[in-house]
Amino acid sequence: MPFDLDRARRDTPGCERVLHFNNAGASLMPSPVLTALQNHLSLEAEIGGYEAHASERNRYEATYHAIARLLNCESSEVALVENATRAWDMAFYGLRFKPGDKVLTHRASYVSNYLAMLHVSRRTGIKIDVVPSDDFGQLDVDELERRIDDRVKLIALTQVPTNGGLVNPAIEVGDVAKANGIPYLLDACQSAGQLPLDVEAIGCDFLSATGRKYLRGPRGTGFLYVRTASLSLLEPPFIDLHAATWTSRNEYSLKPDAARFESWEGYVAGKIALGVAVDYALKWGVETTWPRLQRLAADLRSGLSEMPGIAVHDAGRVKGAIVTFSHERVSAGDLKTRLAEQDINVSISPNEYARIDSEERGLPEIIRASVHYYNSDEEIDRFCGAVRSILGG
Ligand SMILES: Cc1ncc(COP(=O)(O)O)c(C=O)c1O
Repeated sequence: MPFDLDRARRDTPGCERVLHFNNAGASLMPSPVLTALQNHLSLEAEIGGYEAHASERNRYEATYHAIARLLNCESSEVALVENATRAWDMAFYGLRFKPGDKVLTHRASYVSNYLAMLHVSRRTGIKIDVVPSDDFGQLDVDELERRIDDRVKLIALTQVPTNGGLVNPAIEVGDVAKANGIPYLLDACQSAGQLPLDVEAIGCDFLSATGRKYLRGPRGTGFLYVRTASLSLLEPPFIDLHAATWTSRNEYSLKPDAARFESWEGYVAGKIALGVAVDYALKWGVETTWPRLQRLAADLRSGLSEMPGIAVHDAGRVKGAIVTFSHERVSAGDLKTRLAEQDINVSISPNEYARIDSEERGLPEIIRASVHYYNSDEEIDRFCGAVRSILGG
């Protein structure tokens, strides 16, 4: 069946206002997500926040089930949190590292993850080992295997980096982690909703993601997957009355499942709307939208690379929906501003957001144009035309 682009765009009110190529920043929410969010906020205003939560408990619970379907896991293995960083931190800071322990990671690590590794390195004396890339720019799986020894206590991979189209080989990395019994934390922040994710196939112990990007959920939402069999590897870095029960004056017991990584107070409307967003993504089918995203991004890359002075920077054997480029003369900031004047949204990827990757590849400041399935071929043409005219060609 051909992809129903008209319906996708009808469902996306923002398409009438902007040409949105900032889906890796935050996607345009589809109407059902916006409606769920607004309905719950209205109910909170009408009957009270606690009462609204109690009355919508089924909708709230539905979010866990939706994420479980998305990831092929149990709903008890899902913790709802504020964002991907908090999700990642709850797993990373929950591990019990000793001085000299090693974390294997890749140069495309996201800034906040790497900051956390540096933080724990300063505090505890762990070593961070950045596994080199292969000729395609993805993590070199043979090199990963060669670096495994008794000191390696974690493999932490960013599947799709903040600064490009690269898709790291998450399943192959999972095979190495499993074969060696090493905990594996996957940052799926930019991949959730973009490409199919199956935690059984990937073999990760922990996975972090955000709601607002390729899942098209509201801002301020995220989730952590924790494999039941790996729950005991983590000690939640902090707990509250939701994560644990104060059983006697000097005792407490943790929730038996991933809820021990959540906190009591939260963005109930956002969490309900996140579930609606995940269901919405599943209705389209991530395995259906993924090839479309790749095709749109490939067309955008080829349109841009034909323009004199433009360099396209995406690495990877497999490339996804994020297109990054720079111009030899016009700065990324100027280009973004000039595009915004025409209601065209892109973002800039500062080098610091993926410092090791930027330094090793000698990247300039780059423009990030990230497409979603509701974007059209006409928008790709319009975008290329706008860039061409800004550059004066
Ligand atoms: C690869 C990657 N990981 C993690 C994050 C952090 O996500 P959040 O802003 O939801 O904490 C980002 C944000 O852009 C990202 O690109």
